[in-house]
Amino acid sequence: MAIQTVATQPFDDQKPGTSGLRKRVTRFQQPNYLENFVQSILDVGEGLRGGTLVLGGDGRYYNETAIQTILRMAAAHGVGRVLVGRDGLLSTPAVSAIIRKRRADGGIVLSASHNPGGPEGDFGIKFNTANGGPAPESVTEAIYQRSRTLDEYRITDTGDIDLSREGAVEIQGTTVEVIDPVADYAALMEELFDMEAIAAMIADGFRLRFDAMHAITGPYARRILEERLGAPAGSVINAEPLPDFGGGHPDPNLVHAPELVALMYGPDAPDLGAASDGDGDRNMILGPDFFVTPSDSLAFLAANATCAPGYAGGIRGIARSMPTSAAADRVAEALGVPCYETPTGWKFFGNLLDADRVTLCGEESFGTGSAHVREKDGLWAVLFWLNILAVRQRGVGDLLRDHWQRFGRNVYSRYDYEGVDAEAAGRMVEGLRGRLADLPGQSFNGLTVTAADDFAYTDPIDGSRAEHQGLRIFFQGGERLVFRLSGTGTEGATLRVYLEAFEGNPERQDRPTAELLAPLTAAAEALAGIRSHTGRAEPDVIT
Ligand code: G6P
Ligand code: ZN
Repeated sequence: MAIQTVATQPFDDQKPGTSGLRKRVTRFQQPNYLENFVQSILDVGEGLRGGTLVLGGDGRYYNETAIQTILRMAAAHGVGRVLVGRDGLLSTPAVSAIIRKRRADGGIVLSASHNPGGPEGDFGIKFNTANGGPAPESVTEAIYQRSRTLDEYRITDTGDIDLSREGAVEIQGTTVEVIDPVADYAALMEELFDMEAIAAMIADGFRLRFDAMHAITGPYARRILEERLGAPAGSVINAEPLPDFGGGHPDPNLVHAPELVALMYGPDAPDLGAASDGDGDRNMILGPDFFVTPSDSLAFLAANATCAPGYAGGIRGIARSMPTSAAADRVAEALGVPCYETPTGWKFFGNLLDADRVTLCGEESFGTGSAHVREKDGLWAVLFWLNILAVRQRGVGDLLRDHWQRFGRNVYSRYDYEGVDAEAAGRMVEGLRGRLADLPGQSFNGLTVTAADDFAYTDPIDGSRAEHQGLRIFFQGGERLVFRLSGTGTEGATLRVYLEAFEGNPERQDRPTAELLAPLTAAAEALAGIRSHTGRAEPDVIT
């Protein structure tokens, strides 16, 4: 056994995006492409030499190959101990939980989250730091800079490690410990939620359906929802993680989870429907005939947090990403706790959570989480809902309507224009940015602009600044439009338009979202000329 030093040349596209380095599998398969990026992580990550690294992925195509390579490189780097999930599997929130529980120095998550998998699909690699959260911009930037000058990497010439059985082996002085991917995570959920109350509700006839979308949450949901809580076998569907997610798009939303959506809007809908994404950090919540927007879900969990033992003492504060609706702000105000508005990307919540300024965080992109880990957490959100339903003993739709009556309804929708020509999308956003200062006072489809800006954020803990995080346009009636380009796509550009209006009248709150937002939708087109810039008459996805 020996350590080999391999000469290499830098790639110019290893700059991590919103959530790590995400590319086509074929790009990752280029000779040295993965190795270069992994060496950059190892060189930059603090305390890894002699320290502990957590490693796992969502099981997508290329996961196993990458894991074996990373193990050999970690050994060559002198990492003391690598904790790797059995079969190379770990959900993103589980990686975060394990880093924190085992006091590891960092973690590597292999996933492209909700992007499709398979040989023609996407792959990704993300580095998390010792707090369990995604590396902050200072670290990802250092990794990128390292990748630009790298001229060699180091790897052992050892063979593949058997990942199918739990236990420890040693390579080149590094201990590789294959662990149960679910155990630590499940134990943490036991601490937070009243499992007995949920189990009693299920024994009483409450029905749930969880769609794991052939991705990582299958084993977690089966263990917790079926084995621990007693939901009948089959309550978890698409539970087997597959390298190509069964050909699906593992994104829990109304478009990509059609089987679940049809069930929930059909005659035999169970009491709760839920889904999670490729790597297990996103969630979608549905009741019979009722879709809970992620923005409303955050607000609802905040308003009802004390139902769960882990939050019985109340919450310290809430953080939401800027494009997320202000529903949570209303709850924060009622509770007398602060609400922070951050740029898109879970990493911006890390400092607020570490400093104990907030307990709950959420994003419109189907992400909800809390201080229990430093990632968003799909199954956690489902368990939180179950706990609240067990305490309040009412249906999902009824509880949400009550919530709106009390706080008002922030009517919300997001339009995605995917695979748009990057230059055309850039021109549109740049053009709009140049007009921001002139917008106040102008009217579009009868709605008058009161303020407009290019969102920037100064982190209240470390003072770091993030600029150009999306264009916000506010209107007289409390409406808001946001335009931004996605930071997670791999092909062309994705334009996101976020629409929000406020409905305080309970008589009107139950009307369809599209109807309530129709005037604002027309205003968005009049203001930005989306159709002429993108050549698209309709968005590809509406959530
Ligand atoms: C990932 C990130 C989220 C982010 C989402 C959408 O899931 O973890 O923090 O909100 O992507 O990002 P995008 O830049 O595509 O709008
Ligand atoms: Zn994800």
